[in-house]
Amino acid sequence: MDPSPQIIVLDAGGQYCHLIARKVRELGVYAETRPSETCAPELAAAKGIVISGGPSSVYDPGSPTVDPAIFVHNQAVLGICYGQQLMAHLLGGSVRKGDKGEYGLATLDLNATGDPLFSGLGGRQQIWMSHRDTVAAVPPGFTVAGRTATCEIAAMSAPERKLYAVQFHPEVVHTTRGRELLHNFVFRVCGCACDWDSQHRAAALEEEIRQYARGRKVFFFVSGGVDSSVAFALCVRALGEQRVRGVYVDTGLMRAAETEFVASLPGVCVEHAERQFLGALAGVTDPEQKRHIIGEEFVRVQERVIEARRLQDEEWILGQGTIYPDTIESGGTAKASLIKTHHNRVAGIQKLLEAGRVVEPLKSLYKDEVRAVGRELGLRAELLDRHPFPGPGLAIRCLCSPCDAPVRPTADGWVLPVHSVGVQGDERSYAAVLAIGRLDHQAGTDLINRLSGVNRVVGMVASRAPLDAMSVRTCSLTPGRIERLRAADATVRRLSHESGFDCQVWQFPVILIPLGTAAAPDSIVLRPVDSVDGMTAQSAPMPEALLHQMAAELLAQAGIAAVFYDLTHKPPGTIEWE
Ligand code: XMP
Repeated sequence: MDPSPQIIVLDAGGQYCHLIARKVRELGVYAETRPSETCAPELAAAKGIVISGGPSSVYDPGSPTVDPAIFVHNQAVLGICYGQQLMAHLLGGSVRKGDKGEYGLATLDLNATGDPLFSGLGGRQQIWMSHRDTVAAVPPGFTVAGRTATCEIAAMSAPERKLYAVQFHPEVVHTTRGRELLHNFVFRVCGCACDWDSQHRAAALEEEIRQYARGRKVFFFVSGGVDSSVAFALCVRALGEQRVRGVYVDTGLMRAAETEFVASLPGVCVEHAERQFLGALAGVTDPEQKRHIIGEEFVRVQERVIEARRLQDEEWILGQGTIYPDTIESGGTAKASLIKTHHNRVAGIQKLLEAGRVVEPLKSLYKDEVRAVGRELGLRAELLDRHPFPGPGLAIRCLCSPCDAPVRPTADGWVLPVHSVGVQGDERSYAAVLAIGRLDHQAGTDLINRLSGVNRVVGMVASRAPLDAMSVRTCSLTPGRIERLRAADATVRRLSHESGFDCQVWQFPVILIPLGTAAAPDSIVLRPVDSVDGMTAQSAPMPEALLHQMAAELLAQAGIAAVFYDLTHKPPGTIEWE
C-alpha cells in the first residue's frame, strides 16, 4: 500500500509532469500527480505542491489553472515552466506571449538570494528550457532569482511565503543540478522525511498483477524489447508459467535477425503476420495513420490467436509492456497534447482497457526504472541493455511522402521537404527538415530556435549527388523500402557494435527518407542519442573515423543517395522520425 503523498504534482498537461513526481520519489519521498484544478483542501495534507509545465498559454481560454487558495496556506509551492507563468499570472505579475520560444540547453545565472531552494547551487549552471511564453513581471513581494541570456525571469521567489518558481525544467537530466534543486525543495523548503524505496519495486508490482488478474490468465505480446520482457517476466513470477502465454508477432517490420533472437527466449512462440501488416499499410504515408493501422492489426492478431486456441474470452486478459512515456505521448493524461499514438494505446486496446482486461505492470515507470526492476528479477544484462526499439518497428522509421517536392536552398542551408514529428513547448509539431553542410550541434539548436517552419536540423555526411540535384518523390511503405532500411540498419548496428559505440549511446535509430535521385531514391539519417528516460535526449556525436566508414558502407548500398546526421535534441525533435 502506497503512503499518503508528501508532495503532490499538479498536472497542467506537461510532458514531464509525471517525471517530476518520479524524481521526487527517487529522492526517497512519496509523490503523486493530481489534476491541476484539484481544490486546496484536498491538497492540504501534502507538505509541498509542484505545478507542472504544460502546452498552454495562461491567456488561452480554458487553459489549466490551480486553486489560488494553495498560495495562502503557507504550504510550499514550486511552479515549473507553465507553473511559473501561472503563479505569476494568478498572483499579480504578468506573462509575455512568445512566438518562437526557447528550446534546449541554456545557461542560468542565479542571483545570490540566499533562498533555501537554491542553497549550494552556486551562480552559473546548465539548464534545459522548453517554453514559448515567459514571465514579464514578477508578482508583488517576489524577487527575480535567476536569468538566462534570453529569459529575464528564469527563476523567482517569495521565500517567506514558501513560494518558488522556475522557467526551466529541474526534473530533466540535462538540467545538471536539477536534482539538487528538487532535493532542496523537498527537504529544505517542505521539510519532508524519507518514506519511499524506489529500488525495490518488484514485489509490489507482482502483487498488483495478482490483484488485477483475479484468477484470469494473461496473454502477452512480447517484442524482445526491454519493456515487454520485464513485464512478461513479472507476470510469470506473479501468476506462474501455466497462466501466462508469450507470443511474438513477426509484423515484417522488425530488424534483421530479430525474430530469431526473440524466438530463442523461453516461453515465447512466434506468430507470422508479415503479409497482414504490410498489406494493411500499403499506400499509407501519414505517420499517425501508420501507427493506428499497426495498433489495430496487433489487436486483430490477438483476437485470431485467442480464437484459434479456443481460449475463453473471460478467462484471458491482455498483458502489455506499456511504460509511462507511451501513455503521456499518446495524450493519455487529461491535458497533455497528443505527440504520437503509441501502438499500445489505439482504440481496440482502449476498449479492452475500459473493460478491465489489460494488465500493464510498468505503466507508471520510465525506461531506466524498468531496467532496475529487470535487474531485481535477475534478467540477463544482454536483454536489459538492449537499446529501445519502438513497437511499430521500421514502419515509423521509413518516412513516406504524399507528393513530389523539390529541395529548397536558403541562406541557412537546404530545406528538405520531408516532414517529421517533433515536440516543442509540450506540443506536437510536424515540420520540414533543414540540412546544413557541417556537423555542428550548436548551429542545430540555434537554427531551430531562430527559424520557423523547421523542427529538425541535419548535417550532410556524404552523398552521391549534390543536394540541389535531389528531390523528394511520392512514395509509401513498400516491402522494397522496408528491406532497404533493414539492410542499412543492420550495417549501422554491426559497425556500432564492433566499435563499441552502441554502449556509448542510449539509442541509435536509423531512418530512411524519400530524398534522392532517380537512380538512388532514398537517403539515410543517423540518429544516435544520449538520454536517461527517453523524455529528453541529446544528439550524440560519433567518432569521425566510424562515421566515415558507416557513410561509405551505406552509400555503397543500392538505392541510397546520401547519409545525414541528425543534430537535433529532444525537444524540439523527438528521438524517432516518423
Ligand atoms: P520519441 O520519438 O517520442 O521516443 O522521442 C521516445 C522513446 O520511445 C520510443 N518509442 C516507442 N516505443 N512504442 C514503443 O514501445 C512506440 O510506439 C514508440 N514510439 C517511440 C522511442 O524509440 C524512444 O526510445
